[in-house]
Amino acid sequence: PLDIGAIGTVLATTWMGASIYREANPRNQKPQTPLTAAGAEKKSIVILGSGWGAASMLKDLDTSLYNVTVVSPRSYFLFTPLLPSAPTGTIEARSIVEPIRSIAKRTPAEVTYIEADATDVDVTKNTLKIKFPGSSADAQELVKELKYDYLVVAVGAQPSTFNIPGVAEHACFLKELPDAIQVRKRFLECVEKASLYPEGSEERKRLLHFVVVGGGPTGVEFAGELKDYVDEDLTKWMPSIAKEVQVTLIEALPNVLNSFSKSLWTYAQKTFAENNIELILNTAVNKVTTTTITASTKKKDGSVEQKEIPYGMLVWAAGIRPANFTNHLISKIEAQAGARRGLLVDENLKVKGTENVYAIGDCAFTGHPPTGQVAHQEGHYLASTFAKMAAIDDLQSELARASNSDERAKVQARLDAALANVKPFKYNHLGSLSYVGGEKAVADLVWGSFSSTSTGGAFTYLIWRSSYIAMCISARMRALVAADWLKVSLFGRDLTNE
Ligand code: FAD
Ligand code: NAI
Repeated sequence: PLDIGAIGTVLATTWMGASIYREANPRNQKPQTPLTAAGAEKKSIVILGSGWGAASMLKDLDTSLYNVTVVSPRSYFLFTPLLPSAPTGTIEARSIVEPIRSIAKRTPAEVTYIEADATDVDVTKNTLKIKFPGSSADAQELVKELKYDYLVVAVGAQPSTFNIPGVAEHACFLKELPDAIQVRKRFLECVEKASLYPEGSEERKRLLHFVVVGGGPTGVEFAGELKDYVDEDLTKWMPSIAKEVQVTLIEALPNVLNSFSKSLWTYAQKTFAENNIELILNTAVNKVTTTTITASTKKKDGSVEQKEIPYGMLVWAAGIRPANFTNHLISKIEAQAGARRGLLVDENLKVKGTENVYAIGDCAFTGHPPTGQVAHQEGHYLASTFAKMAAIDDLQSELARASNSDERAKVQARLDAALANVKPFKYNHLGSLSYVGGEKAVADLVWGSFSSTSTGGAFTYLIWRSSYIAMCISARMRALVAADWLKVSLFGRDLTNE
């Protein structure tokens, strides 16, 4: 009899093997050239960033149509959905990165990558200043100017501290890969230090109090992951420490996961209670010192109670704000006056007040949430829009060369059709997923434009895992993430602080 399971496994393995082979053995690329195939001057695109927006655009861009340069201080794409799993070692840090050069190498033509920060743009002269992120002495020598025909800004955002005293100095963040490494080090430092104090002592209690501020998906996922690590692994190696660990999440609003549907807040909060993660709601942190968090709780009668909370490690996940470069660009363009949450863009993601600058992802204000899903779709949209714009350029040169009115009319008709083919960006929300700990996840899933489902639990956890595996940017990343999950299920996570 036909074994569908076996056939499926063989097909999936063959597909995975073929993808890995293709990635490990990239084909030769066309070189960058000064002219297009039609003989016109080839335009240049400079893409700033190597995150969700930039990498998604690059992956889909026909790089033979333009001379493409990527500028980013980070030489890799980071798969942020699994970043909360990195500090605990559920996922190895290197498993969720993909070198931007590997992504570029899989496109039709050569792409230049420059490891640098963009520091300034002159939108009237089409020039960009970049600085190599080294020591200040090096950086002085390595300031460069680039010319561009099109600029795509995809520089992301940065954690927001709201200028709350002590946050920048004492908190850990969870935005970039080095943050995850720092969180791990800090956690294990607290654990080791706590073991030097007698059981039940105040200092030991403080060191073992791990506080997450912010009940958005970053804070919820990380609190869940951290508690899993304590309950499943720390408890095996250091049981007396594990039983004194307290994980707390502080949220200013009355609920966590406010962007999810109501049934899922309730589910997440119930799961936290079952897993002994303390939730402090309606409470805004307003000061942090080396050892204490000060927070004010809004009570039902309208009064406000001030709390002093001793802590060992604080992870700040209270939202994001525009990057300094984005604010600098906003300040230089008159039409951007009043932009607070990112660059204002038109329906084609072109930065308002410019002719040839585009913005995608968290640095653009489009009215959509600042998520990887949005940045990915915007990157994909720009890649296809740039292909259409190259076709329009070719038709315009053809029109200029047309020798008689008949020919001109035919080319004009094709040009009109090509112009009409440039459609506005349309976001297609596929749903939201969040891990909540204890091998449970919540999901708001959208089925086309007609129906949606809110679900939470162990089965949703399987959906969460399969979706994240599917979303990985390469077969290599998929294989590494799957291997990490298998490794942890067989051997658990370790307590090494490297
Ligand atoms: P980023 O991905 O942040 O990339 C910005 C890039 O710009 C980086 O490469 C950076 O080095 C570079 N850069 C910065 N400054 C400069 C400069 N001056 N010049 C040049 N380059 C510069 N979204 C989801 O949809 N699903 C999820 O499950 C999810 N999970 C998340 C988990 C965590 C822990 C975090 C922090 C975020 C998560 N997000 C998720 C949100 C998602 O990661 C962001 O919305 C997404 O990364 C935005 O993409 P971006 O390209 O705008 O920015
Ligand atoms: P967020 O903005 O979603 O949540 C931050 C939370 O911190 C808010 O609930 C806010 O009320 C709270 N807060 C702010 N200041 C505070 C204070 N002083 N004291 C206490 N609480 C305070 O931020 P997050 O989670 O980092 O997410 C950023 C973006 O990335 C969002 O768009 C999110 O949807 C996306 N993301 C998506 C994920 C997913 O889909 N699984 C995972 C992680 C992030």
